[in-house]
Amino acid sequence: MALALKLLKQLRGPSTTTSTILYRNLRPRFSNLRSTIRLFSDPPLSEPLTIPPHQKPHSPSPSSLNQYELAKFAAIAETWWDSEGPFKPLHQLNPTRLAFIRSTLCRHFGRDPLSPRPFEGLKFVDVGCGGGIVSEPLARLGATVMGVDAVEKNIKIARLHADLDPLTSSIEYRCTTAEKLVEEQKNFDAVFALEVIEHVADPAEFCKSLAALTVPGGATVISTINRSMRAYATAIVAAEYLLHWLPKGTHQWSSFLTPEELALILERASISVQEMAGFVYNPLTGRWSLSDDVNVNFIAYATKIKTANL
Ligand SMILES: C[S@@+](CC[C@H](N)C(=O)[O-])C[C@H]1O[C@@H](n2cnc3c(N)ncnc32)[C@H](O)[C@@H]1O
Repeated sequence: MALALKLLKQLRGPSTTTSTILYRNLRPRFSNLRSTIRLFSDPPLSEPLTIPPHQKPHSPSPSSLNQYELAKFAAIAETWWDSEGPFKPLHQLNPTRLAFIRSTLCRHFGRDPLSPRPFEGLKFVDVGCGGGIVSEPLARLGATVMGVDAVEKNIKIARLHADLDPLTSSIEYRCTTAEKLVEEQKNFDAVFALEVIEHVADPAEFCKSLAALTVPGGATVISTINRSMRAYATAIVAAEYLLHWLPKGTHQWSSFLTPEELALILERASISVQEMAGFVYNPLTGRWSLSDDVNVNFIAYATKIKTANL
């Protein structure tokens, strides 16, 4: 009973989060997501992407830090590279999210997806990199990678692990935030924030920082969890309380964004979503695969709008 009440409280969540407000006010505008955004199974584009006019330039953003969320990651920082530990779901998901990244970004940058190092010469930043589970393969694929995380312990673990392999030892890890990099006027060909936006203080401001870090015409890749009933049942009840894949309290349902909300806040930050895919888990094989089903875990590839005055 106590568990049921706790779950119900989590499901309700705070009533005035940005995502809740966006959901209530703007969902009707995005009722037909399928008509505006390509899904990964659609045939590749033969024409270059048409980028709609931008809305407004970036202005300095407040902190994206949510200390309560960061404390949860600091508490389990030593376990980043334990493939059977709390980050097991991210390790299992990694090949599938990298398949999406490789295919969309090779198309975006006109690179050969069969090449062993298709991202050679490109500058990437992995925001909220944790222990470097994504930064490392991106470096092996040839990119010059900066990995940033707000938790110092994560950065130390990431650095130690990357130093074990000459192909990843060039990664520049820094304990900082996207908004601080914006202040330093850094920019990158591609910006990644995988499984991070559901942990930040203000998703819309966070997206503005990601946009400011992306060069005009560059790419932004974001993955997160949908605020759906199915996500509540699987990503919270099953993963945290029944299967114990993740520590209890890892996710707050009310902090999740729907694909429509994510597309909207990106659009407002001059980032246009081009393609989305869902990640679907097969409990029999223990494997994830890409799908058109964006009901639970999903990933979006977007482009920074090219304009003269950005
Ligand atoms: C679920 S983990 C994802 C790690 C990594 N992106 C991956 O997918 O393997 C979320 C990470 O985001 C970091 N984080 C949360 N809020 C942040 C912020 N505002 N700025 C930078 N890092 C942040 C946390 O410390 C944590 O390492």
